[in-house]
Amino acid sequence: MKFFIDTANLAEIQEAYDLGVLDGVTTNPSLMAKEGITGDDNVRAHYKAICDIVDDKVSAEVISTNFEGMVKEGESLAAIDDKIVVKVPMIKDGVKAIKYFSQNGIRTNCTLVFSPGQAILAAKAGATYLSPFIGRLDDISIDGLELIQQIVHIYNVYGFETEVLAASVRHTMHLIKCAEIGADVVTCPLNVITGLLNHPLTDSGLAKFLADHAKASGK
Ligand code: E4P
Repeated sequence: MKFFIDTANLAEIQEAYDLGVLDGVTTNPSLMAKEGITGDDNVRAHYKAICDIVDDKVSAEVISTNFEGMVKEGESLAAIDDKIVVKVPMIKDGVKAIKYFSQNGIRTNCTLVFSPGQAILAAKAGATYLSPFIGRLDDISIDGLELIQQIVHIYNVYGFETEVLAASVRHTMHLIKCAEIGADVVTCPLNVITGLLNHPLTDSGLAKFLADHAKASGK
């Protein structure tokens, strides 16, 4: 299972990378805006800064919504660094663009996926990654994890090579359930990754070990 961090914040990316468990980064226009990154040159420089931290797989999302624009933008984003994965929305021209990129050696992440039908289309077009959004489905009382289960099943049945990248992951149980289901990748905020560390018995156990050691050493 791969862990991606879902942020454009360089300090958080560095912290997750330093933990030694980070496989990639996903960003989106909202996350870039949250960091105050605007303007073409600044956005490109920020993607480069992210690429300089991690080993591979940095999703950079296109803003265009027509085929020609997505191809131009995607090729330009991919030229920033070999680590870039072009993130393309699940719309008609997006599917065409994914097909184009897959035929031209550019990795893609198909985003804003909310149904199994969309997942099948993206896989047939040759998407490298598929991002179904769990939390946003949960927000409207539809079971996001059930969608992950359906897509993993369909992809296994047909041997699709597209990797299921569970997105919009809001808490540790989302991540753990995705692991049980067999999602290839999970992308989530830093607090979800570090949240996996927490257990009160670990804390109390460590406190006792250290206290016993101090007592035995006469400290
Ligand atoms: C996916 O790549 C998106 O950036 C992200 O996971 C969306 O998450 P949100 O629904 O918490 O905004």
